[in-house]
Amino acid sequence: MEHVPVLLREVLVFLQEHPSLNKVLDCTLGLGGYSEAILSSSFSTKVFGVDQDDQALAFAKERLQPFGERFYPAKGNFSSLPASITSHAPFDAIVFDLGVSNLQLVDEERGFSFQSDGPLDMRMDRDEPFSASDIVNTYPERELADLFWKYGEERFSRQLARGIVRHREGKGLIERTSTLVEVVRSTLPAPVQRKMGGHPARRIFQALRIAVNDEISVLQDALHGVPALAASESLVLVVSYHSLEDRIVKTLFKMWREQGKGTILTKRPLTPSEEEIETNHKSRSAKMRVFRFENGRKGV
Ligand SMILES: C[S@@+](CC[C@H](N)C(=O)[O-])C[C@H]1O[C@@H](n2cnc3c(N)ncnc32)[C@H](O)[C@@H]1O
Repeated sequence: MEHVPVLLREVLVFLQEHPSLNKVLDCTLGLGGYSEAILSSSFSTKVFGVDQDDQALAFAKERLQPFGERFYPAKGNFSSLPASITSHAPFDAIVFDLGVSNLQLVDEERGFSFQSDGPLDMRMDRDEPFSASDIVNTYPERELADLFWKYGEERFSRQLARGIVRHREGKGLIERTSTLVEVVRSTLPAPVQRKMGGHPARRIFQALRIAVNDEISVLQDALHGVPALAASESLVLVVSYHSLEDRIVKTLFKMWREQGKGTILTKRPLTPSEEEIETNHKSRSAKMRVFRFENGRKGV
């Protein structure tokens, strides 16, 4: 299993400029790509890695075992970090690489992908009870349409919501990713599908994933909690993959600057080079923003 870390070189360049990178908090450990690179680039840095996905955590733990006690993993949502992590604050750098990992995307049993057949699930944390199937099969038409519009910016949100409800009423529940894709394909006329650019179910899959994992609220909550975890000169790096996330990061960084908390180091977000996009197509929508705190807590 491989997940090619996105914008990794750029992340490392920022971190290497920090005068004493003792403790790094990786809020989205995933397969441990960032954490491994950070641990390898110094003999003294400790990395605290958090993920809400048990599979990712197990994978990263094994991968990063050679670093011994310099790596400390914990299960949790970055919006409400466990005390076992917050007790190590302040951190010299806090890193977020949002969205899903390849591990989640390629496992059809997780239901994230419109390209393979699996249960309509999409939970990053499988201890949570609420899945994509609950939304697709219980939301009224109007709420489905609003969700597809708000989180997927899907122009055909109303038609697709109507198609789903018709299917529910006529043929029964939509329990599989492939059934949802069929509903999309049979709802929208072929010329419309061709004009959509990309897979016609892409946007509603994104919308469902954001809703299932409450991605907008948890990102807002997490970023609001960041100043309390930051040391003086602490760096916050956020790699996001869609405009809704990027807008939240941009707005909050501006607010911190206006409050005199520090400096925005990326006037414009950094994006992957053409070369990176060519070798890793999934990186194409990535944007990284970086903030440096000036008045954080004193490090220990
Ligand atoms: C893009 S991957 C990170 C990949 C990682 N940087 C690497 O190089 O291997 C995102 C990871 O963040 C996790 N994640 C997303 N939202 C989270 C949240 N709110 N709390 C904790 N983990 C989250 C996902 O489960 C996924 O494993």
